[in-house]
Amino acid sequence: MCVCIKFIQCKMANILPMILFVILNLILFFFQLSTSIDTITQFQSLNDGNTLVSNDGTFELGFFTPGSSTNRYVGIWYKNIPKRRIVWVANRDDPIKDNNSNSTMLIMSKEGNLELLTNNNQTLVWSTNITTQSLSTTSSHVAQLLDNGNFVIKANNNTDQQSNNFLWQGFDFPCDTLLAGMKHGWDLKTGLNRQLTSWKNWDDPSSGDLTWGIVLHSNPEIVLKKGSVEIHRSGPWNGVGFSGAPMEIITSSVIATTPVINSNEVYFTYSLVNKSMVSITYLNQTLSLHERVIWSPEDNTWSDIQSVPKNDCDVYNRCGPYGNCIHNPSPICQCLDGFEPKSPQNWYASNWTQGCVRKGEETWNCGVNDRFRTFSGLKLPDTTHTWVDANMTLENCKNKCLEDCSCMAYSNLNVSDGSGCSIWFGDLIDLRQILTFQQYLYIRMDASTVDSSGDVSSGKKNHTLAIAVTIPLVIILLLGIIVFYVYMRKRKQRDNAEINTLTEERDEDQQDFELPFFNISTMISATNHFSDYNKLGEGGFGPVYKGTLAMDGREIAVKRLSGSSKQGSKEFKNEVILCAKLQHRNLVKVLGCCIQGEERMLIYEYMPNKSLDAFLFDPAQKKLLDWFKRFNIVCGIARGLIYLHQDSRLRIIHRDLKPSNILLDNDMNPKISDFGLAKICGDDQVEGNTNRVVGTHGYMAPEYAIDGLFSTKSDVFSFGVLLLEIVSGHKNKGLTFQNNNYNLVGHAWRLWKEGNSKELIDDCLKDSYIPSEALRCIQVGLLCLQLHPNDRPNMTYVLAMLTNESVLAQPKEPGFIIQRVSNEGESTTKPFSMNEVTISVIDAR
Ligand SMILES: *[C@@H]1O[C@H](CO)[C@@H](O)[C@H](O)[C@H]1NC(C)=O
Ligand SMILES: *[C@@H]1O[C@H](CO)[C@@H](O)[C@H](O)[C@H]1NC(C)=O
Ligand SMILES: *[C@@H]1O[C@H](CO)[C@@H](O)[C@H](O)[C@H]1NC(C)=O
Repeated sequence: MCVCIKFIQCKMANILPMILFVILNLILFFFQLSTSIDTITQFQSLNDGNTLVSNDGTFELGFFTPGSSTNRYVGIWYKNIPKRRIVWVANRDDPIKDNNSNSTMLIMSKEGNLELLTNNNQTLVWSTNITTQSLSTTSSHVAQLLDNGNFVIKANNNTDQQSNNFLWQGFDFPCDTLLAGMKHGWDLKTGLNRQLTSWKNWDDPSSGDLTWGIVLHSNPEIVLKKGSVEIHRSGPWNGVGFSGAPMEIITSSVIATTPVINSNEVYFTYSLVNKSMVSITYLNQTLSLHERVIWSPEDNTWSDIQSVPKNDCDVYNRCGPYGNCIHNPSPICQCLDGFEPKSPQNWYASNWTQGCVRKGEETWNCGVNDRFRTFSGLKLPDTTHTWVDANMTLENCKNKCLEDCSCMAYSNLNVSDGSGCSIWFGDLIDLRQILTFQQYLYIRMDASTVDSSGDVSSGKKNHTLAIAVTIPLVIILLLGIIVFYVYMRKRKQRDNAEINTLTEERDEDQQDFELPFFNISTMISATNHFSDYNKLGEGGFGPVYKGTLAMDGREIAVKRLSGSSKQGSKEFKNEVILCAKLQHRNLVKVLGCCIQGEERMLIYEYMPNKSLDAFLFDPAQKKLLDWFKRFNIVCGIARGLIYLHQDSRLRIIHRDLKPSNILLDNDMNPKISDFGLAKICGDDQVEGNTNRVVGTHGYMAPEYAIDGLFSTKSDVFSFGVLLLEIVSGHKNKGLTFQNNNYNLVGHAWRLWKEGNSKELIDDCLKDSYIPSEALRCIQVGLLCLQLHPNDRPNMTYVLAMLTNESVLAQPKEPGFIIQRVSNEGESTTKPFSMNEVTISVIDAR
């Protein structure tokens, strides 16, 4: 191990103390190296061959040669990950060309700069170049590799890892990789733009032409560029996320934090929900995209969890002005309502560059009488020419837009509370369909082309629209009846034969997915003739039994569905296949099904830990759920629900979310069960009005319990109840508080109003809970419980609120559905039809 010391200006009189100092340092240095060190102090050096390791052992800094190159660089990588990824390079544009590795070293100069030298002739290859004024002459400096991968220069006595008082930091000069905690954006005071720049190629870390950074529009967004050509933009921040961001950002446990936008700085950072996970975003210079990868230790590989642009519609301005890019159908570009192709000839030849224009554009005289057409489900347009005001009301926003003929659209700045104003000047560019957020865009139109009774958004019926909708509907209905008739006839002929051959049969839609079909005899022997001893519980659609498969000893859970045989076996099978395809770590896995005659069964993976209620409401067992586990359970359920609600293939509303439907695995990770049952049993519409209410008192949203109206927001309500139950350890129903007829929700609301929410927290969490987190859970719970479905946040936003530090909205009064606590049995799980219900139910039609 070679240690080199740089002597500078060494006078004869100083030589003796200097030598002593050097020897002392050498001893110290060797001592430190034998463990591992994360700092270079003044007069020390790091030679090629040695490395620094961050205090917690995550990151390592040292010399490396990329790919087939012969140059050497100083860089940082994850120490314990065998498939090395360089996350930062010090001298990317100043390579060490000297092949003699013994001669190069990184030193901390006397002045406090990091310098990369080739020793033979003391050539300075690279330096941090901090000006001497900013370096204090009185205290000494060290360079340290921090636990988050930041390599910094700081005063020796500064022990704070997060401090911003660094004299220099690698995070200010990102390369192609964004690490958690890194600021992505601008320091406006110094003009420093922290943007990512790709490597030139896999062998050459020098700056390539792909960049990804924040553009300083009045409504900033993150833009990916190749050279000067814009490839993709994130869409402006809408208070919850980037308006063009695909869903995965949040479902993959990676959270973009609210951007900081003020007169000093404009940046965003991201954080990982699970801090021990290794996940980064980097620029892929070969494919011209930014890619998020995650290290999975089991497979010993980096897997891609998101790359952008992913499809045609992610590509900037794919459809031209006012063209809406829709990923699925063909052609992918469609003019917005009220617009027509600028050049029909080009447009229908799939050349969309010229986009669309307003119908009747030639005769339109812009003025204050113009109207706005409301659009939802669109990525907000390019913000190059925008103006924003965070405090302006939507009405004033509209008027402001009307005053200026170049204003073409306006919208809220913040979708979560509907506040603020953003207006767009000039043609609207880079629109696409995106359903992640409920965001509205109001586009200016000639009054004569928009319904005379007012804005489309006002909700009044448009006569021509009604006709335009009714006629095709009638036609579709007639066609539907014919198809149905033909289908029923065919089915009748086939059905009997089919049931007997199901076990062998594989049809077209199964080709890419094999769902095992089990024989009834297998199920009978696995569950010991469905004995009571094997019965695990009784859920919404029938009893559940534990079983053991004779062939491989595997443990399974068998749900014997009651009253579902109305549905044909084919439809049933298709629904089960769809549900079995829903795979998420927070959902119970569907292993197969069994169909025989009238019998319908679902086979799930077996969860040894039983369900959440067995822990939460048991005085002894609940102690096993400390705060960390409970919070993990809350977030896990939220993630599972996001997946159910947002997955692109299906949109599943659970309709019976409650603790007994949350199963726990060996590590106490939550898994939602019974999802999709309403669908499988054939009485689900995507959302809407049902005459069969499935659910459990105490968890049902008022609009569902009373009017039979269900939507993702009724699941959000149930989640709110669940959240309060998890924090308090009490059932919503079945307990009275303060000798009043309050249920848990009522009790929580009263404590909240009094500012005593802390009293709600389970006594047995006293030692383990984090007050800010627990109180946040209660507030989010109350937000989910608000009476009006539209006031309730969606699950994506719920998860973001739970895991971010952002300020939360004030909840409005919750919808209490059953305030009176009755004794009609603990947690009724029996499904009931509206006709049988005895509580006051207003029949909805
Ligand atoms: C340093 O040494 C290298 C190789 O010995 C040589 O090519 C280079 O010109 C020298 N640089 C200076 C500044 O002397
Ligand atoms: C966090 O991630 C690590 C590594 O991937 C994993 O072992 C651990 O179980 C995760 N923890 C939670 C709470 O998800
Ligand atoms: C599409 O149309 C524009 C305008 O007419 C033209 O400049 C461009 O070359 C066309 N692109 C292709 C691929 O034909």
